[in-house]
Amino acid sequence: MSAVTPANLPESLALLARDPPDLRRALVDDPGRAERLQVSAAGLTLDLATQRVDDSTLAALTAHLQDCDFVEARLRLFAGERVNVTEDRAAAHMALRAPPDAHFSVDGRDVSGDVAAVLAAMSGFAEQVRSGAWRGHGGDVITDVVNIGIGGSDLGPRMLVAALAGQVMPLRAHFVANVDAIELRDVLANLDPARTLFVITSKTFTTVETMTNARLARGWLRRSLPEEAVGQHFVAVSTNLEAASAFGIPREQCFGFWDWVGGRYSVWSAVGLSAMIALGSTCFRELLDGAWAMDQHFRDAPLAENLPVLMAVVAWWNREALGLPTQVVVPYLQRLIHFVPWLQQLEMESNGKGVRRGGEAATRSTPPLWGDVGTNGQHAFFQMLHQGPQAQPVDFIAAAAAGSDDPADGDSHRLLLANVLAQRSALAHGKDARTVDAELTEQGLDAAQRAKLIPHRVFSGNRPSSLLVLPRLDAFHLGALMAAYEHRTFVLSVLWDVLPFDQWGVELGKSIAKTIDRAWVEGGEDTCLDAATAHWVHRFRQTQA
Ligand code: F6P
Repeated sequence: MSAVTPANLPESLALLARDPPDLRRALVDDPGRAERLQVSAAGLTLDLATQRVDDSTLAALTAHLQDCDFVEARLRLFAGERVNVTEDRAAAHMALRAPPDAHFSVDGRDVSGDVAAVLAAMSGFAEQVRSGAWRGHGGDVITDVVNIGIGGSDLGPRMLVAALAGQVMPLRAHFVANVDAIELRDVLANLDPARTLFVITSKTFTTVETMTNARLARGWLRRSLPEEAVGQHFVAVSTNLEAASAFGIPREQCFGFWDWVGGRYSVWSAVGLSAMIALGSTCFRELLDGAWAMDQHFRDAPLAENLPVLMAVVAWWNREALGLPTQVVVPYLQRLIHFVPWLQQLEMESNGKGVRRGGEAATRSTPPLWGDVGTNGQHAFFQMLHQGPQAQPVDFIAAAAAGSDDPADGDSHRLLLANVLAQRSALAHGKDARTVDAELTEQGLDAAQRAKLIPHRVFSGNRPSSLLVLPRLDAFHLGALMAAYEHRTFVLSVLWDVLPFDQWGVELGKSIAKTIDRAWVEGGEDTCLDAATAHWVHRFRQTQA
C-alpha cells in the first residue's frame, strides 16, 4: 500500500492535478466524453462529462483507491465484520435489504431470519393500521401517525414519505424531531387523540429530544384518554426494548433492530416503520430491492464501472486535487425536499472526522455538504455557485419522467429538466469577457460603460458538476439512489482513511447540555459552568421567571 496522505497526492495523481481538464475546452474538443464518462446501475445513470476528469484521471483515481486497500475494506464490510472498531460492531445495513436467500452474515451469524421476522412484524402491523383493522382505544380508525425521533430516527423516514407521497396514503404521516416543543404542538393542534398513533423511534431510547417529546405526547393523549389507552396509541422502534417497555409500550408493540445498524443507516430497519405505515409494505419492499440492487452492483462491478465508486473518487478529486471547499447537492425534484438533510447526516456524521483510522490527525476529510431542491436554489444560492470566488462542485439529481402524470403538467417537467441542463452547462462553459463585450455593444453601450460592467457580467466557467438521472422517482430508484450515496460515503472514508461508522463528535455537546440543564434547575451554575455560560443561564432564567 502506498503511503498517501490527503495533503499528499500520489505521484500519478499529483501530475494529473497540475493540469486537470478544462471543461470549456474539453466539452468542445472531445464530444465523445458525453457518452464515455457515463455509468449506469440499478436504473440510475451517473454522467461525469462535466467533472474536471477524463479517462486517465478516473483510471488513476481507481488505481489509487485500490492502493488504499479498498477491495479488502469492502470485503470486510460485506462479510459483516466489526468494521466499526471504536464501538466494536459491524455496520451491516445491507443485510436489511438483502433477500432472505442471500443469507447475509453479521459477525459470523446468518441474520436473514431475524431481519425477515422484524420485516414481517412491521408489515403485518403497518397493513393493520392502513386497513383500519388496528383501532384506537375507543374503537376509532387511525387517521394520523406521528413519528417522534431525531437524526437517523427521523431524517430517513421523513425523507421517504415526502419523496414517495404520490403513493396511495390512507392516513397522514407527521414527523417531530426538535426539542423545541412548537414542532410537536403544531402537529398535535390538528389531531384527534382517539385517531392518532405515535411511533417512538430511537435506537437507544435515551435521546433527550425524543424522550421529552414522547412524554409530552403521552401527556397530550392522557388528557382525553385513560392510561390503558397508551398501549393502543404508542408503538416503539428501538434496540433498547427494556426502556421502551418501561415507557409503557407493550413488548409486542416494540419493533427491534440491532447494534450493527447505525442510526444514519437505519431507515431500512424498523426505523422505517412510520414510512411503511404511510406508504405500504409493498412500496417499502421495493425501496429495499432498489437498495439491494445497488449493493450488489457496488460489491461486484469493476471499479471503473462502479457508480458509487466513481461518485466518491470524483468527490475526493474535487477536494484533494482541485481544493474545492464544499459539496453541493441539488435534486431537481420537489419530492426530494428532505433529501439533502438526510444526506448531510449520512456524509458529515460519517466522514466529518479529524482523526485517521490509526489515531493520527487527518489533514482533511469530508467538506461541508449543502443544497436545496432546484429550481428553488437557483433563486437563492446559485449566484455564488456561478460567480463566487471559488467553484463548489455540484451533484445535480433529476428524473427523466415527471412526478405528476397530469398531461397539463408536461411543460413544467420539460422546464425543470431544461433548467438542470442549463445550470450544469452554465457552470461548465461560463461566459467570457469577449462575449459579454459583444452583447453590451449590441445593446448600444459605449466603451466606458462596457468596461465598467464587463467584470460583473463574466462567468469564469470550468466549474464541475455531476448529473445523476433516475428514470422516475419511485421506491425502487429512490432505494438505489440512497444506497449509492451510502456507498459513496464508505468509499470516501477509505480514501480519507477515517472511521465512518461512529459519531463521538456529538457526545460532548450532549453531556454539556445535561450539565447546564441540571445547573439551571438545581442552581449552582456559578460553580460548574464557565462565566460566559453562567451569564446566559442567569439571563435566560430571568426571562422565563
Ligand atoms: O446525533 C447523534 C445520534 O446518535 C445519531 O447518530 C442518531 O441518528 C441520533 O442521535 C438519534 O439517536 P437515537 O435513535 O438513539 O435516538
